Formats: sequence, C-alpha cells, structure tokens
Amino acid sequence: MKKVITYGTFDLFHVGHLNILKRAKALGDYLVVAVSSDAFNAIKGKKCAIPDTERMQIVEAIKYVDEVIPENSWDQKIDDIKNHDIDVFVMGDDWTGKFDYLNDYCEVVYLPRTPDISTTQIKHELKLK
Ligand code: CTP
Repeated sequence: MKKVITYGTFDLFHVGHLNILKRAKALGDYLVVAVSSDAFNAIKGKKCAIPDTERMQIVEAIKYVDEVIPENSWDQKIDDIKNHDIDVFVMGDDWTGKFDYLNDYCEVVYLPRTPDISTTQIKHELKLK
C-alpha cells in the first residue's frame, strides 16, 4: 500500500484545500493529513477562525482522507514519515524547495495551487463586507 502525507492549516475549508487533498490521494492508496494545532499556529503568529478540533473534524470527513493527525511543530515531519510508513510527501507549490530535505526519507511532490483562492483572501473579503 502506497501511503501519502500532506500538511496544512485548512482554516475556512475551501475548494483549493479539496483539490489538493484529492490530488494527494491520487498519488497513492492511503492519505494522512497533518492539521496544524492552535498551539502550533500561535508559535507561527497565526490565528485561525476555526478551532483545531473542528478543522480536524472537517478534514477527516473528506472522502479522500484516511487519517488525520495533529501538527504541533516544524520538526515532526521526519518522525511522521517513519512512524506512518509514508511513501510520498505532498505540499502545494507555494512550498516548492522548502521540504526537499525529506527526499532522504520518501518521495517529495509539490502540486500546483488552485488559482485565486486562499484562506487569507477569504478573510480579507469578509472584512470588506
Ligand atoms: N492550497 C492549494 N491551493 C490553494 C490554497 C491552498 O493547493 N488555493 C494548498 C496549500 O498549498 C497547502 C494546503 O492547501 O498545501 C493547505 O494550505 P493552507 O495554508 O491551509 O491554506 P491557504 O488557503 O493557503 O491558507 P493561508 O491563506 O492562510 O495561507
């Protein structure tokens, strides 16, 4: 069985999130998604509209997703890859090059982002209303 992992915040879940999860799953048979915890976001100086427990529930309900784990730090990826027997690490191409060091542990794939949508943009547009 080919196992795939991807990471993200998935705040205000949108079609760009859905597309990357669909395409990530298509690269293997089993998709693990690491969803950033509120504590980790606080370290990054990021504040979500939706609490981590709810973001995880939403991602877990997506039909392409087999398992959700929390992302609590920048440096857990190697352990996650080993502990979950991951074959492919996937991220959107806004991260191109940033995770090439994981090539020692599995295949690293950057997928093109869905154009013209992001959580940041949705938050911005809501503020304008
Ligand atoms: N993603 C994507 N296409 C988009 C938005 C996000 O493929 N239009 C991907 C990202 O590249 C990442 C995953 O979805 O691999 C989770 O991204 P996340 O940062 O949670 O979403 P964004 O909408 O990019 O959020 P923000 O604006 O806060 O950065």
